Amino acid sequence: MDDSTFETFFANPPSTIDMSLLDRARIPHHISCIMDGNGRWATSRGLSRGEGHKAGIVSLREIITACVRLGVDVLSAYAFSTENWSRPQAEVNLLMHLFAKTFIEELPLLHRENVRVVFLGDIEALPDETRRVFEYGLEQTRDHTGMVLALAVNYGGRAEITRAARLIAQRVQAGTLDPEDITQDVVADHLYTAGLPDPELVIRTSGELRLSNYLLWQVAYAEFYVTDTYWPDFDRWGLVDAILSFQHRDRRFGGLSAAKGR
Ligand code: FPP
Repeated sequence: MDDSTFETFFANPPSTIDMSLLDRARIPHHISCIMDGNGRWATSRGLSRGEGHKAGIVSLREIITACVRLGVDVLSAYAFSTENWSRPQAEVNLLMHLFAKTFIEELPLLHRENVRVVFLGDIEALPDETRRVFEYGLEQTRDHTGMVLALAVNYGGRAEITRAARLIAQRVQAGTLDPEDITQDVVADHLYTAGLPDPELVIRTSGELRLSNYLLWQVAYAEFYVTDTYWPDFDRWGLVDAILSFQHRDRRFGGLSAAKGR
């Protein structure tokens, strides 16, 4: 299939999706995905959890391309939380190896689509192979001017806010910042997402109704979309469905009618 244009990529929707309802002028600037359900997807098919993660990578590739075709500015995705280290060591090792392998394999896609990669989280603490590949990917895509792909790896929202507090305290201690000048913008500038717009739409797959320590500061005004679909089954049409749902909502930002938020 020729996926090179919006029209070809989104040709032949299923009967449940009416593409004419999609307002292409109101695509969320930042879409964020909590990619949940790889393990359950695999188990339900009698496969290993590793097979689930591999299938999840295929979905991520499709969602990256879909977001580029839709004109999304930032796609972020929760790949590995600070809590995920407590999984069995074999699964952690497999995930770390898969991250490195996938990243190298997907570099041509990132080049072709002009995608700039950033990482949210402490990638210094990752195993050498994964950290080196990620650093190489950062370097290789640094000058890309298209969509930003923000991968949350070894990420935790509370850890991120704690780190920001520490960085700000260090500036105060060094005498380069007056406590009176600590505004919300200053805090935002010390988060991993500094310089990126806040997510407008957060998609969580596999039906769980929780945030799981994800982008706690940044999702203050985000719209949530939860689907029962497991992440490996989530595709371009699931994404369009989420955006259609987003476009139907009245975003009030604490006001009375659709007012413009931060
Ligand atoms: C959640 O499923 C998914 C993950 C922990 C990993 C997701 C990562 C990817 C899809 C690839 C990311 C790629 C790069 C290059 C960073 P789960 O294991 O929690 O599923 P379960 O809740 O059904 O057990």
